[in-house]
Amino acid sequence: MHSPLPKIVIAGAGRIAWHLGRRLKGKGMPVAHVVSRTAAHARELAQTLGSDWSDDWAEAPADADWLLIAVRDDAIAAVGEALSAAMPGVLATHTSGATPGTVLAPFFKRYGVFYPLQSFSKERMPVWSKIPFCVDAADPSDILFLKKTAKVIGNLVYQVNDSQRAMLHVAAVFANNFTNHCFAIAEKLLDEHDLPFEMLHPLMEETLQKAIADSPARMQTGPALRGDTDTMQRHLSLLAGHLHWQTLYRNLSDDIRQEIEPSAGTDE
Ligand SMILES: NC(=O)c1ccc[n+]([C@@H]2O[C@H](COP(=O)([O-])OP(=O)(O)OC[C@H]3O[C@@H](n4cnc5c(N)ncnc54)[C@H](OP(=O)(O)O)[C@@H]3O)[C@@H](O)[C@H]2O)c1
Repeated sequence: MHSPLPKIVIAGAGRIAWHLGRRLKGKGMPVAHVVSRTAAHARELAQTLGSDWSDDWAEAPADADWLLIAVRDDAIAAVGEALSAAMPGVLATHTSGATPGTVLAPFFKRYGVFYPLQSFSKERMPVWSKIPFCVDAADPSDILFLKKTAKVIGNLVYQVNDSQRAMLHVAAVFANNFTNHCFAIAEKLLDEHDLPFEMLHPLMEETLQKAIADSPARMQTGPALRGDTDTMQRHLSLLAGHLHWQTLYRNLSDDIRQEIEPSAGTDE
């Protein structure tokens, strides 16, 4: 059984630790202890949260109920291992979309994932009600606890297993990082021709709104969808000074064609 107020420890003092720590506190679930490898970072976050802190994994409180490991993906296992000696009975979760929950299985009996599917930065306040929380745990009562907690600090809660979350993360890279990279390319192309990026803002907003309101595949427009090869050839020529972007243009256009005409490809 979990007490109404679990004793929470956060490992790490980066962006996720800051945002989750402050949100938990704001929702009446204060963080008892911050442990992180850099003393100054642990102290700064702990001061904000009114919690204890340490830069020594061995000093994490043994009677904690919930450990949130919010460190870089490739450090999760090592940090989990380092903490497991001090807190063997804790429910240990990490916050990574790309890492299986089972990475903590060798070190903790109770382990899981508490992954907020959003891009966080320190300067921007998250809109918690719109962030999907993807939770999972080895034990059903821990899943229940994570779901309830996610509901307290957010609104959208999904139970997502390791293989689902792995593909969700790939999809998020397409929806977020690759889309944003395309925005960045567009910005540079306009900049090279003394045009303000703001000119594209309404088009970007409309694209996003249509993709959300309907299916993005159904909402696609443009020369690749139309099979307008003359226009595509002109575009490819205009990109002659940017061979990477030319390749990207060709590949994306091919992929759009494949969606509507599986045997198609763009002409060279
Ligand atoms: N930021 C996001 O948008 C986002 C969204 C969802 C999930 N996540 C996940 O949340 C976790 C943390 O991400 P973040 O964005 O908060 O990262 P971050 O801001 O870069 O902070 C990383 C934290 O990890 C610690 N760290 C890095 N390498 C370490 C090591 N070798 N040993 C021990 N600690 C180490 C850092 O310690 P120092 O302070 O000493 O450098 C820092 O406290 C990751 O698993 C990430 O995938 C992030």
